[in-house]
Amino acid sequence: MISLIWAMDENQLVGNGDKIPWHIKEDLIYYKSKTKGQIVLMGDTTYFSLRGYYKDKPLPYGKIYVATIDKNLKIETELNEVIMVYDLIPFLENNREDLWVVGGATIYKLSLPYADKLYISFVKGTHEGDRYFPTIDFSKYNLVWENNTNLVRYTIFEKVK
Ligand SMILES: NC(=O)c1ccc[n+]([C@@H]2O[C@H](COP(=O)([O-])OP(=O)(O)OC[C@H]3O[C@@H](n4cnc5c(N)ncnc54)[C@H](OP(=O)(O)O)[C@@H]3O)[C@@H](O)[C@H]2O)c1
Repeated sequence: MISLIWAMDENQLVGNGDKIPWHIKEDLIYYKSKTKGQIVLMGDTTYFSLRGYYKDKPLPYGKIYVATIDKNLKIETELNEVIMVYDLIPFLENNREDLWVVGGATIYKLSLPYADKLYISFVKGTHEGDRYFPTIDFSKYNLVWENNTNLVRYTIFEKVK
């Protein structure tokens, strides 16, 4: 099962350089409640950005896959179990784990065709940034849950079988 989880604003913006364009504490709490201790996949840009936040602490996931096309890049850390993914598409086609794709923009785009579930936090308003989520064909998904707050509409979509 492959789940994508992300927050985007009304322009489908997800990032600004290597940063998230907003700071919404309730969304961070929601994100952590879903991904804590889980098996996650992220791009190297997102990994190094998170490392900057967590510094010498472990990232709050179980196993971490880091995608890159740089075959010389190796991440050796005792803080987390990190496995490099150099060939993302065969990895997505063959992986049978409960995998959470946690960004960033490039990895979301490449993973979207393989997603079984989408956890989308629709952030209200528009923001400054330069990384966008690609167009989503919502006719391929059913909305199975939603919760609306002043700042965010939290949703879960499942792919139509
Ligand atoms: N709003 C959210 O929920 C959310 C969540 C996470 C991250 N973000 C944001 O997303 C942004 C980062 O996104 P990004 O697109 O710059 O970086 P990214 O998706 O984190 O990482 C992209 C990496 O994937 C590599 N790659 C490309 N094709 C590949 C393939 N076929 N196989 C393996 N690896 C491949 C790229 O290699 P090359 O560099 O060599 O091309 C690049 O190193 C940041 O602004 C971050 O804050 C937002």
